Amino acid sequence: MQSYSPAEQWAEPRGQVQDLSWGARQRLSFANYVRADFKDEIGKDVREGLSARPKTLPCKYFYDDLGSRLFDQICRLPEYYPTRTEISILRTSGAAIMSFFEPQPGDLVEIGCGADLKIRQLFERTDPDRLAHIRYVPMDISAGCLVQSARRMLADFRGLKVHALIADFTRHVERIPAGRKMIVFFGGTFGNFTFAEGIDLLKRLAGIMGPEDRLVIGLDMIKEKEILEAAYNDRQGVTAAFNLNLLQHINVRLRADFDLNAFEHLAFWNERQERIEMHLQAKKDFNVNLAELGISWSFTRGESIRTEISQKFSRKSAQERFRKAGLQAIAWHTDPAGWFCLVELRRLQALDLGYAIQPSGNGCEKVVPSGA
Ligand code: AVI
Repeated sequence: MQSYSPAEQWAEPRGQVQDLSWGARQRLSFANYVRADFKDEIGKDVREGLSARPKTLPCKYFYDDLGSRLFDQICRLPEYYPTRTEISILRTSGAAIMSFFEPQPGDLVEIGCGADLKIRQLFERTDPDRLAHIRYVPMDISAGCLVQSARRMLADFRGLKVHALIADFTRHVERIPAGRKMIVFFGGTFGNFTFAEGIDLLKRLAGIMGPEDRLVIGLDMIKEKEILEAAYNDRQGVTAAFNLNLLQHINVRLRADFDLNAFEHLAFWNERQERIEMHLQAKKDFNVNLAELGISWSFTRGESIRTEISQKFSRKSAQERFRKAGLQAIAWHTDPAGWFCLVELRRLQALDLGYAIQPSGNGCEKVVPSGA
């Protein structure tokens, strides 16, 4: 694990919260774990991705300013069912999920929060008196996005405390404060990880969870190919623009000269891997220069860059991942058609795995097969 100096935890971004009332500011705190060298990461990622066979680019670079706005538009498209389906589940199951805070206080940690449309469904279904016993801990790489969201939450939910973490959840989950908590990971973003990356993230989350803690994760479920492919090939072309904007983002960040007109958006269902794949396919042969890296890359007509995978799940394939990570599903909240699921998970105890923890006599504990 990387080490961090205290200097990396910066104070609250005062300029952006100065106008809040004194009361609201008392309920707000920030911590920043994004290292200054984060900006160099894109160069390394692009170099590695374009050297791979097939070429790939990490989907996290979709989300520059324009990319984030295009993604908001995607979430409102008639073909893109996941957002509205997940929100409908939060409306029906939100109170049950929030009952976690009824006996005792705790943190509600949201990783990769972006817009606050989903989390507010939970707070709206919570007894206002309980809000004072809950601390909302949103974690996102974008400080601007966090500040805006924190402002709205403080204004709309009196008594709620907010501790915003400017952090990359693929690297900083260990920075989530210790204590009783429910972690939520909405939006089906878990599906944008490979099998190995997904298990690694789940394991790390399990590693910071106490026996009582909960993880609530959003999963987009397998359904008809036509419905899935339409969601990533919308008629208005917003998803195509979102996909192509990845190259524009790289043009800006790495002084590259990708010609967006030389690529075509492709999105299709990969039956064997149970996932949607998004690609950018070259329409002709050409070279691309990446001035910041001092290198150029050649593309041949028909060659494609894989820009995103969006895994779709069955309960069985999800359970396999949970088990491997030491987690156990305790509730599945879904919509009538079963298109999307919010799964409540807890950490598997040594006992669940067939082991028991016994004192070993020297002040330590030992793990032994249960019944021994
Ligand atoms: C963020 N993520 C869950 C979206 C998805 O559906 O995989 C990203 C997206 N890509 C194209 N449309 C939406």
